[in-house]
Amino acid sequence: MTRNLPRREFLKTTAAGVAALPILRATAYAGGKDTLRVGLVGCGGRGTGAAFQAIQADPGVVLWSMGDLFADRLESSLGGLNENFAERVDVPAVRQHVGFDAYKQVIAEVDVVLFATPPVFRPMHLAEAVEAGRHVFCEKPVAVDTPGVHSVLKTAKLAKEKGLSLASGFCWRAAYGHRGLYDRILNGNAIGDVRHVYATYLAGGVWYKDRKEEWTDLEYQLRNWYYYSNFSGDHIVEQAIHSVDKILWAKGDEMPVSATAMGGRQVRTAEKYGNIYDHFGVVYEWADGTQGHLLTRQQNGCHSENLDRIVGSDGIAHIDGWANRFVVEGARPWKYEGANNDMYQTEHDELFASIRAGAAMNQGVSMAQSTMAAILGRMSAYTGKRITWEQAMASKENLTPQSWEFGTGIEVVQATPGKTKFV
Ligand SMILES: NC(=O)c1ccc[n+]([C@@H]2O[C@H](COP(=O)([O-])OP(=O)(O)OC[C@H]3O[C@@H](n4cnc5c(N)ncnc54)[C@H](O)[C@@H]3O)[C@@H](O)[C@H]2O)c1
Repeated sequence: MTRNLPRREFLKTTAAGVAALPILRATAYAGGKDTLRVGLVGCGGRGTGAAFQAIQADPGVVLWSMGDLFADRLESSLGGLNENFAERVDVPAVRQHVGFDAYKQVIAEVDVVLFATPPVFRPMHLAEAVEAGRHVFCEKPVAVDTPGVHSVLKTAKLAKEKGLSLASGFCWRAAYGHRGLYDRILNGNAIGDVRHVYATYLAGGVWYKDRKEEWTDLEYQLRNWYYYSNFSGDHIVEQAIHSVDKILWAKGDEMPVSATAMGGRQVRTAEKYGNIYDHFGVVYEWADGTQGHLLTRQQNGCHSENLDRIVGSDGIAHIDGWANRFVVEGARPWKYEGANNDMYQTEHDELFASIRAGAAMNQGVSMAQSTMAAILGRMSAYTGKRITWEQAMASKENLTPQSWEFGTGIEVVQATPGKTKFV
């Protein structure tokens, strides 16, 4: 609960990127309004942080409407935001929406929508927001299955046609140190031709919510959405996707031709952990023979790291994302010595600047492709097969329930390599 936390504690808990205040801008909203009404859909940790960042990004932003599946989550988020930014939060009871349709009401009431629900809802929510002409910030990942990715690609195209901004939560792309290094690799010949990329996302387990008597099966599963690949995409899609995204970035956003992966449940085997794996290893291959290796784990008590190593024809780039360390060794040694920023804040600064300038930014294609690449890795690990990009893009596997209502839970299916079929 954030409601009663003192300001400093609240900022820490909603962080995932809360740092120095940015310089506030004063240009007019291109749509002719000085006030930008912002709505938040998905009022958990990240959504609350995103609302905080939106408020700080632009002096005309007012948090105007909020929606969540659960009243307690909305209240907790609103309590913290009100306590810290009362003058910029105007969300009376009539604009607090709860339930599966809350997103529709939020979209109807605002200029800009922030989406931070579990990923399974993203394609449906995004489509409705863009259809209604709203600018969007949406957290990664943007889908959990191929039909969802295709839906997001369609929505991204529509956003472009309508001149709407569509910004994604692939936050490392907004980090100055990363930008400095990747720009040098892609445009400054820092390491010659990229031959191999190696990335790790090794971390501990995540939260679990004990069941309450009054919860239906589906409510219990959605409260613990992380553990169900139908809702989260599994942790390779939900968390390690940042590393997948950086592998693609190093390859100039060219998509791999295939993935060969493995994974399983070694320590997180209890029923309460749904059906997601606790480790994956993936080898992505490109048409030119380049490989990208991803190693990811969510197991407590083990070594943690989040590193990227990009091997070129005459140099190696080392990135330690958590420590903000960016070094090139080889023919042209280099070290990033510029400023470091709060990447989460920069995402919102750039989104709102684009809206004010009437110069829509659209990250729709790259966010959909990075999501697809992570799903490709999961598909290969679950089936035990080498899967091509083409096959994955034609997959008919639909993990998203056709309709939503509380009651019966989803069927929990464990994937077994060699037995689970590619669909
Ligand atoms: N970019 C990053 O570094 C980063 C960091 C953390 C989380 N995230 C992403 O943000 C998203 C949310 O993660 P979180 O950690 O905040 O999770 P969370 O569980 O704290 O918050 C999710 C919220 O969405 C609500 N919700 C669920 N279904 C909903 C629906 N249909 N409509 C409206 N609200 C709904 C939940 O009740 C909850 O309050 C995920 O996609 C996650 O991957 C990104």
